[in-house]
Amino acid sequence: MLLLLIIIALILLIVWELWICEGAHLGRRVVVWLYDLAATRYDGIKHFDADWERQFLGEPLEKLLSDLPRPRLLDLGAGTARTFRALDKVSRIPNPEAGLHPPDKRLLVGVEPSGAMMELGRKKVGLGHEWVQGLAVPLPIAPASFDLAVCLEVLEFTPHPKRTIAEIVRILRPGGWALLTNRIGWQAPLIFGRTVSRQRYPDYLRELGFEAVEVFPWQVDYDIAWARKPWT
Ligand SMILES: C[S@@+](CC[C@H](N)C(=O)[O-])C[C@H]1O[C@@H](n2cnc3c(N)ncnc32)[C@H](O)[C@@H]1O
Repeated sequence: MLLLLIIIALILLIVWELWICEGAHLGRRVVVWLYDLAATRYDGIKHFDADWERQFLGEPLEKLLSDLPRPRLLDLGAGTARTFRALDKVSRIPNPEAGLHPPDKRLLVGVEPSGAMMELGRKKVGLGHEWVQGLAVPLPIAPASFDLAVCLEVLEFTPHPKRTIAEIVRILRPGGWALLTNRIGWQAPLIFGRTVSRQRYPDYLRELGFEAVEVFPWQVDYDIAWARKPWT
């Protein structure tokens, strides 16, 4: 009987770690390996709705980028290029008022540790985007070199979310903006040590060096925050 209970507990532990935590407590190599394995199924699992992505991701990003002469955007944990696809959707809508940049005037860089995710992302968006295969910590990017950093549905899978955020602060120029999701919902507290509550999230970001923090509901399992690196 005891043996049966131990076996059931072990199975539950494995399911919890692999299904909910995506290997987060087993080290970054395991997380990346799982994404390599799941890459071809990723978009199907996520059910991205192209119009929703354009409206709630592409348009707000484009609004910020269009104020800058030569905007530089970094997507950390870029996956299958969700952010770039949302931006592409906006730039395909003819709108002379929008002040969109020709592709050669903007720098869009995806950092992604999983080779399989990155290859799929690269194929989906084609030329005009740069890709760097790398991890969040250390982020293989020069300090103060980006105007905008996006990090969607990634923090909870990195070994040290605080260090990941510190790296994002480091690579942003003063006055640069970050767009960061925070895992919520019933699964979030089960990803031990990798998530913070939605009540605590704004202070958490302020303590890590951001100002002008604003948090919004985003998707079933995530809130999203806009946060600015201080000018000085
Ligand atoms: C849930 S997916 C999100 C992908 C994309 N941002 C999106 O919203 O579709 C998580 C991504 O984080 C990446 N990732 C996992 N661990 C990472 C780490 N330590 N540093 C950077 N990226 C990581 C994975 O390879 C995967 O592409």
